[in-house]
Amino acid sequence: MRILVTGGAGFIGSHIIDALLKKENKVCVLDNLSSGKMENLNPGVNFYHGDLRDKEILQQIMQKERPEAVIHQAAQPSVPRSIEDPSYDASVNVEGSVNILEACRKGEVQKIIFSSTAAVYGNPRYLPLSEEHPVELLAPYGISKYAVEQYLKVYKDIHGIDFTVLRYANVYGPRQDAAGEGGVVSIFADRLLNNDAVNIYGDGEQTRDFIYVKDVAAANAAALCNGSGQVLNISTGKATTVNELFYTMKDVSGSSSSARYCSERPGDIKHSYLDNSLGVKQLEWKPGYNLQQGLKETMGLS
Ligand SMILES: NC(=O)c1ccc[n+]([C@@H]2O[C@H](COP(=O)([O-])OP(=O)(O)OC[C@H]3O[C@@H](n4cnc5c(N)ncnc54)[C@H](O)[C@@H]3O)[C@@H](O)[C@H]2O)c1
Repeated sequence: MRILVTGGAGFIGSHIIDALLKKENKVCVLDNLSSGKMENLNPGVNFYHGDLRDKEILQQIMQKERPEAVIHQAAQPSVPRSIEDPSYDASVNVEGSVNILEACRKGEVQKIIFSSTAAVYGNPRYLPLSEEHPVELLAPYGISKYAVEQYLKVYKDIHGIDFTVLRYANVYGPRQDAAGEGGVVSIFADRLLNNDAVNIYGDGEQTRDFIYVKDVAAANAAALCNGSGQVLNISTGKATTVNELFYTMKDVSGSSSSARYCSERPGDIKHSYLDNSLGVKQLEWKPGYNLQQGLKETMGLS
């Protein structure tokens, strides 16, 4: 299949490309390298250095590459940045995504796979969070991601372009920037590998759903043929405390780092994990890595 991956030089996008190239796919990439890096990028792709907000480059890609599917990862991915600069967040995440949709409509694209987020659920009213959980938007980042989910539904209804929305939990793995949305694992990894103390906010008993990036890449690849018109959680379905994360990482790395407990951060959600059963069924996919295996690979220890 001919596939355009936006944000393919980034953390998750680059792993998706590695998975796509293991099969018979022809992949091209649009990335402005604002957070992505050329060194992440598999050399087997056609790379276009450009911005989602530039309609001309999108038109050029559609004409030259004639993608049949688009995996849309490029985004402003930071919640704090979306609060500091909501106009930038909206211009990249909403306007940029609408440009992608318009380019798809004018091209030969049959399906768009969109990276959304568990942030659209806000403060959990029950756990695990299912796709039916009410949407509660707590920051511009969630608003912009949820807006694109709605655009996708409308484009399917009006123009017949298929989609699958994947709402990711906390993704971790190699190539992750310590400043990203799920950056806790990469921050811990840096400190543990240098035997430095690791800061844990609050008592460390807060929970998150940490999914390994290769499992997320496999979910995207599976969505090329499955999950038509669906909104799906991509997660392990398991809650892991920050203390468990720290001690598992300490164990697999043999580090002598200790935990340093700091005051809780205001606004942090205490517990979160996602029900992945719909995604498992619809995508015919399931996460293959347990936490230990994923952390070992992340820390370059396997
Ligand atoms: N990392 C997580 O835990 C997580 C969780 C939920 C959702 N997501 C979503 O997954 C996607 C990938 O996230 P990531 O962690 O790999 O982030 P990342 O920053 O590593 O990747 C984003 C990529 O998009 C590119 N990009 C940004 N703005 C662009 C623009 N205007 N035009 C072209 N390219 C642009 C960047 O250079 C980068 O390569 C994002 O849409 C993010 O919102 C990530």
